[in-house]
Amino acid sequence: MLITFEGLDYSGKSTQVQLLADRLTLQDHHVLVLREPGGTDIGEKIRKMLLDKNNDGMTEASELFLFSASRSQLIQEVVRPALDGGMVVICDRYYDSTTAYQGFGRGIPLEVINAINKYATGGLVPDVTFFLDIPIREIEKRMHSAKKNKDRMESNSIEFYERVRNGFLQIAKTESRYCVIDGLQPIDDLHELIWQHITDTLMTQK
Ligand code: TYD
Repeated sequence: MLITFEGLDYSGKSTQVQLLADRLTLQDHHVLVLREPGGTDIGEKIRKMLLDKNNDGMTEASELFLFSASRSQLIQEVVRPALDGGMVVICDRYYDSTTAYQGFGRGIPLEVINAINKYATGGLVPDVTFFLDIPIREIEKRMHSAKKNKDRMESNSIEFYERVRNGFLQIAKTESRYCVIDGLQPIDDLHELIWQHITDTLMTQK
């Protein structure tokens, strides 16, 4: 089973990924947690290039190809073998991030994005995708209070983030695998909603 989490930066995805992984593990599932970009030797090198603020001259096409290159490595080297071995794979971001950030955010035509996504993943579609939705003003607040140096992707404008959020909501409308969750709820409540959805999905897959 392939479960993916999507959301804007600071949406709280990583916390929910870990809580879900821990609970599935307690129930004797073999769980593998991954994050994009990265997760392989080549992918981690690509990640550094993508997030390095010195690379402010990176073209939109290079950005698209680099995210997709990292993903291709991850699918072939790690995800496919894990799924074949019966593991539950939880991925913190997957190709919907490319559609939302590079497609809706940067404005690269969606037919280009869709073709590259399909090629990079070999057509591997998640079973379930959680989108943790939070308003942009909350992202701004969280970014301020995090006080860490922003990476290249976090240095985008508010308008960019609005387009990305809108992009995720558009994708959610057309994909039945989507579960959109109000990310402003307390951490434990979010986890319970996610857990309920996963147990329902696991039941129907049996
Ligand atoms: P990361 O530090 O992993 O952020 P987060 O914890 O929010 O996932 O950085 C990944 C950044 O790259 C994030 O800003 C989203 C962006 N991104 C894309 O623009 N396209 C993609 O295909 C992926 C996977 C990520």
